[in-house]
Amino acid sequence: MPFCDYLGTETDTIAALERFLQDSSSGMDLPAAFILETVQAEGGVNIGTRQWLEALAELAVKYNVLLIVDDIQVGCGRTGPFFSFEPFDIKPDIICLSKSISGYGLPMALTLMKPEHDVFDPGEHNGTFRGHNAAFVTATAALNEFWKDDLLTRKVNRNARQVRDTLLDIAADHDAEVRGRGMIQGVEFADHKIASAISKEAFSRGLIIETSGPNDEVLKTLPPLTITDDLLTRGLEILTQSAVAVFREPAYTH
Ligand SMILES: Cc1ncc(COP(=O)(O)O)c(C=O)c1O
Repeated sequence: MPFCDYLGTETDTIAALERFLQDSSSGMDLPAAFILETVQAEGGVNIGTRQWLEALAELAVKYNVLLIVDDIQVGCGRTGPFFSFEPFDIKPDIICLSKSISGYGLPMALTLMKPEHDVFDPGEHNGTFRGHNAAFVTATAALNEFWKDDLLTRKVNRNARQVRDTLLDIAADHDAEVRGRGMIQGVEFADHKIASAISKEAFSRGLIIETSGPNDEVLKTLPPLTITDDLLTRGLEILTQSAVAVFREPAYTH
């Protein structure tokens, strides 16, 4: 039976997952790993709650399943701390990192794992695109610069409040939900066409803002963590003006 059938109409996905793992006639072996994002980014800025994440981590330990956190989009300070899961009591076996890890826009990805899972001898895990030397140099410089103290984390938290307040203003008086952590914040509109319309309008005014979610129903803000306060304010002004322009269109006026 597929997992979605175990879920049915139940909202407690952890309980459903455990039933699935326990059922010897489910037709499925135990999975090798649970792979998750603590904030589903492309999936629509869906936030894993502390309770859900910690319960999943407990399940992983109980059934001897590896816990892999994909921190490619929400790691490296995006939610405030370096790793997105730091506020929670979870200890992933494997962590995927990329995007801003090189600190300079150079291509780089890292897979971190607990020592007990490291089965590779030095130099054994090789390949054509591995070990981009310049990216290692810039990544080291970025770690030394941005993670020697908590200044960046505090800036992210401060700027995040400004982004969130702007999105709350945009969402007010509309059937919409604002959610996010740190510098990944989104607003989901019940009318799925609105997010794309605002994104398009913002582009015409010089601001790039993405949509996410299965139906592109979420307007997703992902500003650079190092953005200056002035530039962030300017970007958010353009975003607000774009939303105002879209809501004036007859299709979205109510
Ligand atoms: C959370 C997450 N995982 C994985 C990827 C894919 O990374 P790559 O292009 O390095 O395969 C992305 C890309 O946006 C992502 O956001």
